[in-house]
Amino acid sequence: MGQYMDQRLPNGLSSRAIKEHLRTRWLGQRAVCCFDVVESTNTEANRLAREGAPEGTVIVANAQTRGRGRLGRSWVSPPGNGLYLSIILRPGCPPDWFPRLTLTAGVAVASAIQETGMRPQLKWPNDILIAGRKVGGILIETVFDNRQIGSAILGIGINVNTEQDEFSISVRNLATSLRLSLDKPVSRIHLLQTLLYQLEQWYEFFCTGDFETILEAWCQFENTLGRMVKVFLSERRLVGVAEALESDGTLLVRDKRGCLHRVVAGDVVHCRIG
Ligand code: BTN
Repeated sequence: MGQYMDQRLPNGLSSRAIKEHLRTRWLGQRAVCCFDVVESTNTEANRLAREGAPEGTVIVANAQTRGRGRLGRSWVSPPGNGLYLSIILRPGCPPDWFPRLTLTAGVAVASAIQETGMRPQLKWPNDILIAGRKVGGILIETVFDNRQIGSAILGIGINVNTEQDEFSISVRNLATSLRLSLDKPVSRIHLLQTLLYQLEQWYEFFCTGDFETILEAWCQFENTLGRMVKVFLSERRLVGVAEALESDGTLLVRDKRGCLHRVVAGDVVHCRIG
């Protein structure tokens, strides 16, 4: 387990500082656990959830040594410049609401980034892009309980003040940070407070089953529909046009033979035109 920080660090994440101007009603109000270095905030959150931590507990780290991405990838998490956090949710909803939860989180992250003055886009299911480059990602890990999603660990990583040379060579042309896009530094703590506020709002729509409102917002940010995409599914690859989003959050892809495929989960790559 990483070292718990309750002192304000010079570049600043501490639970006291985070709570100071937090506008939420419940999210992060009971517990914000702030670490200097952890393996993964999702691992910490999973542990705390098993120990009975309440919904709305927030785990933040200044750096991660084994940050996890989707599909078994790693999430490079150097100290100081990124936002790495996990939130314990206890939605108690049917398992097939999972794609909706993913989109809900994407809308919250995009809305928070938009408040910093940028125009983020969402690539299905939950990559956050700016000008076509990835600036953030979401990893949700669930525990099922009595045929419901008992707990969901919502992990969010955002490249906030990351410099170009901090990205590994393999992703340098595919990734960006808020600082690089805005050409000025962004306060991690302010972004985090805005993010928690947005997430509380959108999660409440999710819990009341108002998915139409979430879908509408997601479509305002999306940049996947209408594109030719390659979808990497666990056992095969699908190429086609991302035609629409179903009301349950799944993606409809039409292949070149005209068959429509429902994609519940997978890795989507936008194909270049020409
Ligand atoms: C992805 O796009 O592949 C998802 C990346 C999610 C990264 C975040 S950083 C905080 C939390 N802890 C982790 O280990 N992963 C998520």
